Amino acid sequence: MASAVLNGAENLTLIRSLSPPSKGLGCLAADFHGKNSLKLNSVPCGKISIGVRKNRATFIPKCSASASRPASQPRFIQHKKEAFWFYRFLSIVYDHVINPGHWTEDMRDEALEPADLNNRNMIVVDVGGGTGFTTLGIVKHVDAKNVTILDQSPHQLEKAKQKEALKECRIIEGDAEDLPFLTDSVDRYVSAGSIEYWPDPQRGIKEAYRVLRIGGKACIIGPVYPTFWLSRFFADVWMLFPKEEEYIEWFEKAGFQDVRINRIGPKWYRGVRRHGLIMGCSVTGIKPASGDSPLKLGPIAEDVSKPVNPFVFLLRFILGAMAATYYVLVPIYMWIKDQIVPKDQPI
Ligand SMILES: C[S@@+](CC[C@H](N)C(=O)[O-])C[C@H]1O[C@@H](n2cnc3c(N)ncnc32)[C@H](O)[C@@H]1O
Repeated sequence: MASAVLNGAENLTLIRSLSPPSKGLGCLAADFHGKNSLKLNSVPCGKISIGVRKNRATFIPKCSASASRPASQPRFIQHKKEAFWFYRFLSIVYDHVINPGHWTEDMRDEALEPADLNNRNMIVVDVGGGTGFTTLGIVKHVDAKNVTILDQSPHQLEKAKQKEALKECRIIEGDAEDLPFLTDSVDRYVSAGSIEYWPDPQRGIKEAYRVLRIGGKACIIGPVYPTFWLSRFFADVWMLFPKEEEYIEWFEKAGFQDVRINRIGPKWYRGVRRHGLIMGCSVTGIKPASGDSPLKLGPIAEDVSKPVNPFVFLLRFILGAMAATYYVLVPIYMWIKDQIVPKDQPI
């Protein structure tokens, strides 16, 4: 078993092994001890190699830490229709109630760092851009006129349209799994906090690959799966909380190279990840060749035009929304713990 103590959850970068994807998913069990410190434990099923670069730790997972959990397993809000209605209501309070507990400006700016937004003329798409909270971070580095915000929720987009800094952005309705952009047309693909609603995350990542130019970079910011049993239960009821190794596998299967994960989290969690995180990592990959992704997929899983039983829909929606409520309470609980527990002790 290999382990390392590293400084700060934010400084962790995880890079996929060079071994072929067919050898299985990576494995990691991570926990944090004390203020700004992290202890990583690999499960004894493979080698882990760790190196530190400019305060950034890099480790290479080799096998899966727990039983497989299909990404397509039904979760109550991991569907386009449910997500649409979920955001019909959530958009009213999203910026003021949801983001402060899960997705702060500090976290956002740090999560966007690996996207290398290093030129104001870059063409950038923000997929699942919602109210434009992440776009506000993007337009610090890129001219707003070069940025497109795409979302399936007109209600979320309406909030983005009201933001002065985003006035010059192109704002369009669309589906992450079927992007209305040409192949090889953008320099950066960014998507924050949206993958968890995609019925088929692999398809969304394949689309990210397609629309990027050769050498372009995708940056997907999303949740991470909890290890604590109650949090796992609510996560599974609500939506997709991928494992870190799942992100890496999806990116590699889509054809991306130099795939990396950076861990993020609210400061007051002190690096705790056992409850999962709605915004827990920033995953990047580079497109090595022009054209479509080498990955072939069947037809789109969810047909939004298909009629649904309204009672089943309502029940699913209510159960999903109840599970989401648990995740409104977790950051409050963690904040209280952070206030009470002495800073030199683990929470
Ligand atoms: C948690 S919000 C994130 C919004 C924004 N990116 C941010 O950082 O605050 C998730 C967004 O993803 C959008 N979404 C969910 N499924 C989508 C899909 N299939 N295509 C496009 N947008 C989608 C939702 O409408 C919602 O606005």
